[in-house]
Amino acid sequence: MNSEREFSDVITGLAKKRGFFWGPSPEIYGGSAGFFDLGPLGKLLKNRLENAIRTSFVRANFWEVECPTVSPAAVWKASGHLDGFIDPVTKCTKCGQIFRADNLIEEQAPGTQIAGKSVEELTEIIAKQGIVCASCKSPLGAVDSYNLMMKTRLGLDQDAYLRPETATSTYLLFRRFLTFFRDKLPMSVFQIGKAYRNEISPRQGMLRLREFTQTESQIFILEEAEQNWPQFEDIKDEELPLLSYQIQEKGKTDLVRMKISDALKKGHFQKQAYAWCVYLAYSIFRNMGFSEDKMRLRQHLETEKAHYAQDAWDIEIHTDSFGWVECCGVHDRGNYDLTRHQEFSKEKLHVKVNKQPVVPNVLEIAFGIERPLFCLIDNSFQPQSEERDTDWLQFPPEVAPIQVAVFPLMGKPELREPAQEIFGAVMDAGIIAQFDVGGSIGKRYRRQDEVGTPFCVTIDYTTLEDGTVTVRDRDSMEQVRLHKEKLVEALKGLVYGNLSFESLK
Ligand code: GLY
Repeated sequence: MNSEREFSDVITGLAKKRGFFWGPSPEIYGGSAGFFDLGPLGKLLKNRLENAIRTSFVRANFWEVECPTVSPAAVWKASGHLDGFIDPVTKCTKCGQIFRADNLIEEQAPGTQIAGKSVEELTEIIAKQGIVCASCKSPLGAVDSYNLMMKTRLGLDQDAYLRPETATSTYLLFRRFLTFFRDKLPMSVFQIGKAYRNEISPRQGMLRLREFTQTESQIFILEEAEQNWPQFEDIKDEELPLLSYQIQEKGKTDLVRMKISDALKKGHFQKQAYAWCVYLAYSIFRNMGFSEDKMRLRQHLETEKAHYAQDAWDIEIHTDSFGWVECCGVHDRGNYDLTRHQEFSKEKLHVKVNKQPVVPNVLEIAFGIERPLFCLIDNSFQPQSEERDTDWLQFPPEVAPIQVAVFPLMGKPELREPAQEIFGAVMDAGIIAQFDVGGSIGKRYRRQDEVGTPFCVTIDYTTLEDGTVTVRDRDSMEQVRLHKEKLVEALKGLVYGNLSFESLK
């Protein structure tokens, strides 16, 4: 493969062919950019990722909530999204096509400094650099601001918007949380739910969606606790691969692997609790199956930060499709959100400290699930080789959409019935299994390799004689015979534990 573009086409083609995702949706009406359907394997994979995320948050003492996806305009005025959640756009003076001005400049004049530029400055850059319409090459109009929220209406006449982030809907519950947490801060909560962004011209398939599933955790916390965070002790000696803004400002992209306590001493992180959030986000991505050599943490430059952020670090995943892909943001939102909602709603969103009202700060971990889903397919891709005549997927066993396939050697009842019994026992153990009777065993192995199933179990005539079954390992293509009484424990160890296939031999 020659280029990133070609590789992303291979991944997207494979994902469509094997039922991970389809689109743009709705395909039979020509498709709208930024919308995709998840096929059966994509939905299974998304469920596995959601499980890994949910387990990580619950273990770290966060409580899950769910809020409406639509809120009245007043909420978004208060949150700052009505005025600040905007992209710069420009329209072709001839064909009328609309583009994101920053994307066009990046494409036609790579390296131009555009972060943080006003619409007037972007208009000037377009004129000076001779940036033209990507379709018909005609001159472009003045750059304007375009709000990314999707507008709707409640009843006949109340303006409302689909949420562009779950976070804001979480903040609106602050007073309810105070009661639930018996007025004790910090309070840690998270949401997994849909969010919507009316991207002007979404490209890069699954990476830029107009409708997507966000995971966002929020810690409501007082300033003093941010600097004295007890859980910091547990992680202070862990190392993270950091690309701070100081390094980027020197025009460099070198990663520094640094102990978290040293990163705090050197001023890369300002607060213990924030550093802990960055580590939690990083460990969630590891739990989703990403290997450390494909991950880095990049701090936002001053000009990149969202309107609510005092500090922001992204987790980026390296893909062969698109290079480094921003997948998660960890934000120090200070007391911006609660202060704004207190002001606009006229409700008290503070606590009393020494009898004085104090508006707590918020630390946030925010990411969409579809991006890691695409990146995991990209990272798991293995091309066909001398040993295998098709491309295959090397998903980590704990998140593979199908973790174990169970085959009777043939469809005859004497093999089918015990195979079905084993299939049931495997599913009962919390392992996602598939029962397959179609085609030769070789063909069935190949089909499972193509969708990344790490283990296959075959029930044959020897099983009827001595109770043993064959377990086949996707990565080495090796097989062992195990007694069926030991099978479920072994599979649990292979899928969720540290048991190696080698140790079964
Ligand atoms: N809540 C932050 C974000 O949507 O990125």
